[in-house]
Amino acid sequence: MSDISTLRLSDWIARDKSPEEIKRQEKISELLSFLSVPENPDVERFAHKNAIPYEKANKGRTYILVDENSYPLAYFTLGLGRLEYSADISGSLWKKLRGVGDGDATVLTCILLGQLARNHGVLYDSLPKGCLFNEMMNAVYQGQSFVGGRFLLAECNDDLIDYYEKKGFLHLYKNSNNSLNQMILLL
Ligand SMILES: CC(C)(COP(=O)(O)OP(=O)(O)OC[C@H]1O[C@@H](n2cnc3c(N)ncnc32)[C@H](O)[C@@H]1OP(=O)(O)O)[C@@H](O)C(=O)NCCC(=O)NCCS
Repeated sequence: MSDISTLRLSDWIARDKSPEEIKRQEKISELLSFLSVPENPDVERFAHKNAIPYEKANKGRTYILVDENSYPLAYFTLGLGRLEYSADISGSLWKKLRGVGDGDATVLTCILLGQLARNHGVLYDSLPKGCLFNEMMNAVYQGQSFVGGRFLLAECNDDLIDYYEKKGFLHLYKNSNNSLNQMILLL
């Protein structure tokens, strides 16, 4: 098994226009460009085109798992999310998600799992099963320890429902606006 480290994109993006900072950003852009996700072109596009602008705009935090040669094995992005009430959610579950206060809330804030992907072709020898998900959950709990957050929301296509359910997520409903399934994990 390779020696895996998790890079935080925010530690690498250029904060000023010094040659050193710009070089760091070029290096991380190159790393992101090596991420290939043919199973889900939107997830690949995010890594190539949106991860850095989102990071700079503080809209999300992207993490890249790399091996000992700095080859990217996988990546994930976390951010702030919102879950809209739907009649498909039982009153008792909505109350559980809401916690205390906000009695009339029809929208709840949460931690959002924006992206999650293995780099195509990376073998289980290099990135064992469960490793990516565990790393992502470590970051979630770290974020929760600073700012709270009662649940993690993942929005996914139909073919990922089984994957998330195996990881303990509950399927709530399919959003009619973006046709994505709303899956949540209580934290
Ligand atoms: C989803 C993804 C990140 C999972 O990677 P992972 O956590 O490393 O999980 P693994 O690939 O090791 O698989 C773990 C288990 O989940 C299952 N699994 C993986 N993808 C699945 C899917 N799409 N549907 C159902 N089960 C799936 C595997 O069969 C395996 O099951 P097992 O333990 O019973 O053998 C990876 O399959 C991927 O990169 N997919 C393409 C990108 C994507 O669609 N991302 C999700 C949307 S943001």
